[in-house]
Amino acid sequence: MADLLSQLEHLNEQQLRRLLVEHLTRQKLGLYWEANAIERDAALNADVVLPRLVEEWSCSPSVPSPQPSPDGRGSQLPSPSGGRAGDEGKHPLPPGEGWGEGDFVYRNLIIEGDNYDSLRLLRATHAGKIRVIYIDPPYNTGNKDWVYNDHYVNASDRWRHSQWLEFLYRRLTLARDLLTPDGVILVSINDENRARLEMLMDEVFPGMRLGTITWRTRQGSNADQQCFLSVDHEHVLVYGNEGFSFNGFEKSYEMYGNADSDPRGDWRTSNLTLGFSYKERPNLYYPLQDPATGVVYPPNPDRIWVYASRDRLKEGQTVQTKTMEEFIDPGQIIFPKDQRVETWNTMDELLAAIDRGDVPKSGKSPTLRRELPNLEFWLGRPVGFGRPQFKRYKADLRNQTQPLSSWIVPTFEDGNYEAENSFVSSTNQEGARVVAEIFGDRAFNYAKPLSLIKNLLSQATQPNDIVLDFFAGFGTTGQAVLELNAEDASTGSAQVGQRRFILCSSTEANSKEPDKNLCRDVCAERMRRVISGYGGKPGYTPEQGGEFAYLQLDKVDAADAHFEIDAAHAFQLLALKRLSVVRAATAGAVQRLGRVEDCELLVCNEVNAETIATLAAWPQQHGAARLAIYSTRPQTLSEQLAARGVEANCYSLMDALLSGQRGAA
Ligand SMILES: C[S@@+](CC[C@H](N)C(=O)[O-])C[C@H]1O[C@@H](n2cnc3c(N)ncnc32)[C@H](O)[C@@H]1O
Repeated sequence: MADLLSQLEHLNEQQLRRLLVEHLTRQKLGLYWEANAIERDAALNADVVLPRLVEEWSCSPSVPSPQPSPDGRGSQLPSPSGGRAGDEGKHPLPPGEGWGEGDFVYRNLIIEGDNYDSLRLLRATHAGKIRVIYIDPPYNTGNKDWVYNDHYVNASDRWRHSQWLEFLYRRLTLARDLLTPDGVILVSINDENRARLEMLMDEVFPGMRLGTITWRTRQGSNADQQCFLSVDHEHVLVYGNEGFSFNGFEKSYEMYGNADSDPRGDWRTSNLTLGFSYKERPNLYYPLQDPATGVVYPPNPDRIWVYASRDRLKEGQTVQTKTMEEFIDPGQIIFPKDQRVETWNTMDELLAAIDRGDVPKSGKSPTLRRELPNLEFWLGRPVGFGRPQFKRYKADLRNQTQPLSSWIVPTFEDGNYEAENSFVSSTNQEGARVVAEIFGDRAFNYAKPLSLIKNLLSQATQPNDIVLDFFAGFGTTGQAVLELNAEDASTGSAQVGQRRFILCSSTEANSKEPDKNLCRDVCAERMRRVISGYGGKPGYTPEQGGEFAYLQLDKVDAADAHFEIDAAHAFQLLALKRLSVVRAATAGAVQRLGRVEDCELLVCNEVNAETIATLAAWPQQHGAARLAIYSTRPQTLSEQLAARGVEANCYSLMDALLSGQRGAA
């Protein structure tokens, strides 16, 4: 109140009148909270946020286990490092192109700190890249579940609801910018606060409300509750961008049949392509040949094949699902029988056919175009105008109808309940039980059931999505992501799970417990143990997603950015921004971030004769057609390299580091 009054004191009479008129005439449908009257959130700041990789708290095959501490708690808990026995010292590369040679690339992230800062970092690095956000924020029960500016907000606090709404508003607004055009955010909330949060969500995500689902949190009534209703449910609010839909459940099998008496049972044809272009997934863009007839089928440049070809795997490379040949051999790929087959003997003939649009098409789009690479390949070969298809067996199914919004069926009723297209989850006891299985005690009562988050994510995610939880707490979302990936692999599903997680967790340090670090000691430690395997469950190799980078955040005043941002900061931030990965920074004035197609991404921290010579020799040494270089003197560098005949796009390092971070608070 004092703050508000002091603000008003600076206004003159005319300004005060205008404010009054505005106030009296404002007709607002929706939620109002006293944003100006409450104590300001101490976390709000306009500093530049920079990631710092903490390798010893990260999980990769090369990071040794933290040693047990005398009290057996904290990051010192006895814990195997990530990876499997025998992996120590190796640096395998997860699937993907363009990384550096020989070093480890982290694709999963755990970010320590207030999520206001984590979200600002992600807005700079992951805007428009996150497909699914799940959060389980503090519920504002007034019962020591939520800290605002270093004090628990209790039930009698006059500004309790406004503080909570303002706190979430600031964070949700940042999160909104992270979603992909088909992205979705799912938010857990208790019954008491559902209405307020839903209106806040309407404010932040206008027009995006898809619905709410009810989750039964326990079995039986709570005798301790002094209320008229014994509350046994919570909600999950669902807000999605236009392109989002749940994966759905299979309802109708009408399309399935078994005209060829296939011993595997009923089947139907389905698409053999994936929605990525040949530039995004060059390994899955290849001519497909029918071994029985020799006819070759051009891939669709805008929708590559779903499966990798055995012939194109590098030595030692494996795929999590089968290769295309492994589907062809048992007859699971159906090649067209009655179709037009054409042979072009010269490039002129082929180009003329392309110009006439008389080439094989996938849907309406021509599969052969002038700008595509290796057009010579198609000369002198029988090229099929039909499209190969995939034989999808009913036995392999799970999908189709949209999930019911009414309620999440509790596992104790699953089986007695008729509807097949419902989410299923255990009660909240499961959350604490799973954490107890991992840690050996029951200290974490606020953890959500693994089955709840897994069920939501299995409906909301596609196998390649990035899943963000910015109230990650005890890390349940990370475990759910890894388990879903493993399930995809074991079902031999069309797409093998490579979902990634980003978990943001606070330390929960406060004036009474300044050394507390929930993020490191619980969230990251849980993920480390899950990755190693616990309670008889197998762990995860880095290729299966069993790794994470542990990031802490450094903040610098934007005015001091030029002096305070160091080479490691710049390297991490750009690796996240350009490649969505984290790698340990390499030494030297020229650092290699990675590669995108034929373009090498580099950071040049010092422009001098030596670095210019290094960069000028780079394309030839690394077989790259182009360079993209972030540097403190892009103009000079660009001119110097051009004078040496080297094509390079030079960008301002400082602009790249600051972009997406300005105007945050
Ligand atoms: C209900 S718990 C989430 C539990 C999580 N769903 C799980 O199953 O492990 C909410 C978490 O939000 C965290 N939190 C609260 N304020 C935060 C903030 N400003 N930044 C990051 N985390 C915060 C708390 O530390 C708490 O662990």
